[in-house]
Amino acid sequence: MDLTAAIKKLAREKNALILAHNYQRDEIQDIADHTGDSLELSQIAAKNDAELIVFCGVHFMAESASLLSPDKKVIIPDPEAGCPMAEMVEPEDVLELKKGHPGAKVVTYINSSAAVKALSDIICTSSNALKIVERIDADEIIFLPDKNLAGYVQRFTRKTIITGKGFCPTHERFSRADLIFIKQKHPDALVMVHPECRPEVADMADMVLSTGRMVKFVAQTDVKKIIVGTETGIIHKLKLTAPGIEFIPASDSFICPNMKKINLNTLYRSLVNGEFVVTVDESIREKARRALERMLELSY
Ligand code: 13P
Ligand code: SF4
Repeated sequence: MDLTAAIKKLAREKNALILAHNYQRDEIQDIADHTGDSLELSQIAAKNDAELIVFCGVHFMAESASLLSPDKKVIIPDPEAGCPMAEMVEPEDVLELKKGHPGAKVVTYINSSAAVKALSDIICTSSNALKIVERIDADEIIFLPDKNLAGYVQRFTRKTIITGKGFCPTHERFSRADLIFIKQKHPDALVMVHPECRPEVADMADMVLSTGRMVKFVAQTDVKKIIVGTETGIIHKLKLTAPGIEFIPASDSFICPNMKKINLNTLYRSLVNGEFVVTVDESIREKARRALERMLELSY
C-alpha cells in the first residue's frame, strides 16, 4: 500500500482528524481533512468529534488546538516544527509592558506560546486582528509579538498600539527591492501580501490579507494574474481554488523552513506511534484557553 493510502487508513482506524496549515507541503495539504489559516484551524479544532487531532503546522498551532479541545489528544508529526516569532516574546516581556501601561489590554497574536497567551486578555490572528482590537474595551492596546502586524493594525484604528520587536523571519526577509523587482517583471499583476511583511512592502501592495482571506479573494475575483507575497505553500491552495489565475511567488525564497518539516513519512510515523503529544501545563492552561475562546467569541 502506498504511504498516502496507509495514512488515510490509519487516520480512519484511529478516528483522527488531520489539520494542515496553508503553508504545508502540497502532499500534506492534499491528505488533510481540512486546510486553513490560523483562525479557521482554531475554529475547526474547537468543534469536532475526532478522538485524535494530528496537527500539520507549527507548534503554537497544535498547542492552540490542544487548548481548545482539552478532551482530545493532539499530536504534531515533528516536535521541532516551531515558529521563531512565537519565541520572540517571553512572559516577562508581557509583565514588563503591563507594568508600564496599567490601563492597557493585551491582544496577543496567536503566534505565541501558551505561557504568553495566559497573560493576555485576548488572542487574535492575522484574519481578525483589527476586529479584535476594535472590539476589546480599551483605548490602549499592548499588541505582541509581531511589530509588523501591530503597525498594520495601527493604520486603521484610533486606539494606541504598543508593541515589541517580534517579527517573522520569513516575511521580514522579503524587501521593498524584491517587490519592485518582481513587479517590474509582471507589471500587469495584482500584488497581495501577508500583514507580517515589512510596512514598506505592505505600502506597495494592492491587498494585505491573511492566508485564509487570500483564498477567499481569489475564489471570487476576475483578476487574471497575482503576485503572492507570502510563504509559497499557499500557492497550492490558491491554484486549486482558482485554476484560471496565474499565481507568481513574490520570491522563490519565501519559504518557512519550520512549515516544511512535516512530510508524509513523519505524518505516517506520527499516526503509528501516536507522537508527538502536545500538552499545556496545568498552571497556565485555563487562562490561555480563556484568551483563545474570547477571540472565537469576538470573531463573528
Ligand atoms: P495565517 O493565519 O494568515 O495563516 O498566518 C499564520 C502564519 O504563521 C503566517 O506566517
Ligand atoms: Fe512563524 Fe513566519 Fe513560519 Fe508563520 S511563516 S510559522 S510566522 S516563522
